[in-house]
This record gives sequence, C-alpha cells and structure tokens, in this order.
Amino acid sequence: MESSSDHATYAIDGSESLPSIDDGSDWTSADSNSMRTDSDSALGGSSLRSSTMSLQSSAYENLEENGRTYHRRGNYHLPNDDIEKDRLDLQHALFILTFHNNLYLAPIGDNPQRVLDLATRTGIWAIDFAQLHPSAAVIGTDLSPIQPEFVPPNCTFEIDDAEDEWTFRYKFDYIHGRALGTCFKDPGSVVAKAFDALQPGGYLELQDAIMPMQYVGEIPVSSFLYRWNCHVVESSTMAQRPWTNVKHYPEYFIAAGFEEIRAKKFFWPSNTWPKGEYLKHLSVYFQKDLMDGLEGLSMKLFTNFLGWTKEQVQEFLVGVRKDLQDRSIHAYIEISVVYGKKPDEPLEVHSD
Ligand SMILES: C[S@@+](CC[C@H](N)C(=O)[O-])C[C@H]1O[C@@H](n2cnc3c(N)ncnc32)[C@H](O)[C@@H]1O
Repeated sequence: MESSSDHATYAIDGSESLPSIDDGSDWTSADSNSMRTDSDSALGGSSLRSSTMSLQSSAYENLEENGRTYHRRGNYHLPNDDIEKDRLDLQHALFILTFHNNLYLAPIGDNPQRVLDLATRTGIWAIDFAQLHPSAAVIGTDLSPIQPEFVPPNCTFEIDDAEDEWTFRYKFDYIHGRALGTCFKDPGSVVAKAFDALQPGGYLELQDAIMPMQYVGEIPVSSFLYRWNCHVVESSTMAQRPWTNVKHYPEYFIAAGFEEIRAKKFFWPSNTWPKGEYLKHLSVYFQKDLMDGLEGLSMKLFTNFLGWTKEQVQEFLVGVRKDLQDRSIHAYIEISVVYGKKPDEPLEVHSD
C-alpha cells in the first residue's frame, strides 16, 4: 500500500492485522509463566547483562523528585533509576517478540560496519546487536551514563545529547532508535541529523509506540485508562515534547531526503482480550511493561505540568492498573517501525 505526504511517498507493508476480540474460544493460550525474566537474553543466546556492573552514577549529578531519579537537565521526563532500567530491559524482549525474534527490520545485509544506537538507555539493544554482528563497531549514546561496564569488545557507549550538534568522526552504515517518542522537542531535526551522519546507502530505523492508545469497539471514555492517555498527551504537549509525534515519522524521513521508506505496524494489546497466541503473548509482556512503568511515565509530567501531587498520581494509577486487567476494555497501542535509505552516491559520469 502506498501513502503520501507532501507529494513524496512511502510504502506501508509487512504490517500485522488489527487485533480482533477473543470470543472465549481462544482464552487459554496466554501463559504468563512463559514470560522470560529480564536477565535472559531476548535473542535466546547468552546474555552478558546478568554479569554486568553499572557505571557509578554518583559520578554524574541526578535530580531526585518524588522518589524517582532523573537526568539533571530535566528535559527528559522519564526516570533513569533501576525500576525504569528493569522495565526497559523487559520492553526490549517485548520488541523482539513483536518482530518475530528480530532486533531490526531494515535490509542492512549481513555485514554492517559502523552502527549507532541512538538514546540506548541500558544499552541492551546495542549489546545484542554487537553480539549478533561481531564485525560491526557499535556505539550506543544517551544522556545518562547508566550502561553496563562489561560489554562485547565491539560495543562502546558515549554520553551525548542527540539534540545537540552531532560530532561523530565517521559516518554510519546503520542508525537505530527505539522508544524515543518521549524524548525530543523536534524529532524531525534528529532524523535530519541521522541522515547527515549516514554513509550513502545507509539506513535509519525508528521503532516506537504511537500514543494515545486505541480501542477496538466502544471507546471507554470514562475509564481511568482512557483518561490517563489524555493526561499524558496533554502534559507531554505542555512539556513541549509531545508523545504523539511518532505518527509523523514517515514525514520526517521524507523531509530529510530518505528513499525506499517503509512503515510497518504492530500491536500491543492491554491484556489477553484479543484472539491469537501471538497477541496474547505480547499482551502479557505489555501489561507488565505498563504496570511497572506507569509511575515513571506519569509522575514528572503530571506533577510538573498538571499540578498534581505525588499522592494524587499514585491514587489515579490504581484505577489505570485495574483497567489494564479488565478484559472488557479492548485497548491496544500501535507500534510503528519506519526505516529508510540514504540515497546511494551518484555514479561519476565521464564525458569523453
Ligand atoms: C524510553 S528510553 C529508550 C531506551 C532504548 N532506546 C530502549 O529501547 O531500550 C529513552 C532514552 O532516551 C534518552 N534520551 C532522552 N532524550 C535524549 C537526548 N536528547 N539525547 C540522547 N538521549 C536522550 C533517555 O536518557 C532514555 O535513555
């Protein structure tokens, strides 16, 4: 299917079907015991993470607020503490399960040489990628120095603000960014910087959730879950980092000059309400991801921008957690993967 924006086109293909409601015949297949623990490698191989040590965060100033810690600049509204790190490692497994055991979807070939994982957080994607491609030099960048110390020799981490000028000394074959919809004031400019930082023929791939959540059938407008989504959209917009930007990714790719742009859709249901083992399995992970993440996702935004107290946030989230377990609420979040290629260098034409 072709879609268009500003006269340029991108292809929507390889997407999963929208979830449909389980009528009861398909109920048993989700098994919460089948969920891997966060110390397992999401790729099924041996993970280095269980034996790793965190960098000493005391060497860097954090901001403490309402019992959570944040990067000191305060522009990024999610915490950088252990609860959030554990959630993101679980979410890493969820992404890989969603992509049918793949770390990435762009056609980068078997031999990428220079790879950047933008805003890497715990570095788990960069580490898995480095293990999968020993010939590649992988750099993970982030605001917060919370990556492990012992990593594969072809994986390094750097502290870097992706919204500042990019000063890498070489160009990349592949740049990956995941779950960054909460991060940037101007995501289009980050996509443009990535374009400049790629070799001709290199790929950028962004994997992200589109907020707000959607529903099959009736929209439960009075539910806590629906209202939570509205509050997140409102407060992140007030914070000038709207969490709704992900749907514009294809436009940013087109504006930056990418070609062969592909957009794929996947779905994470709130619980086991949809038909099918694949979706039920994803829902078990996604529910845990949200249950563990709700406080970190909401606390800074709701207290700083909506004027709520810590206690008001916590009380409201009790209702959201209940709704997440309610199988009569058919909620899901759309996961978008967009990738595109920087055009190859034109062949030199000799006129003699
Ligand atoms: C939701 S986490 C996703 C982490 C990782 N990509 C993953 O999928 O596990 C977002 C990350 O973006 C980082 N971040 C936010 N703003 C940033 C910026 N301007 N430059 C670099 N990293 C940033 C945060 O520190 C955080 O680690």
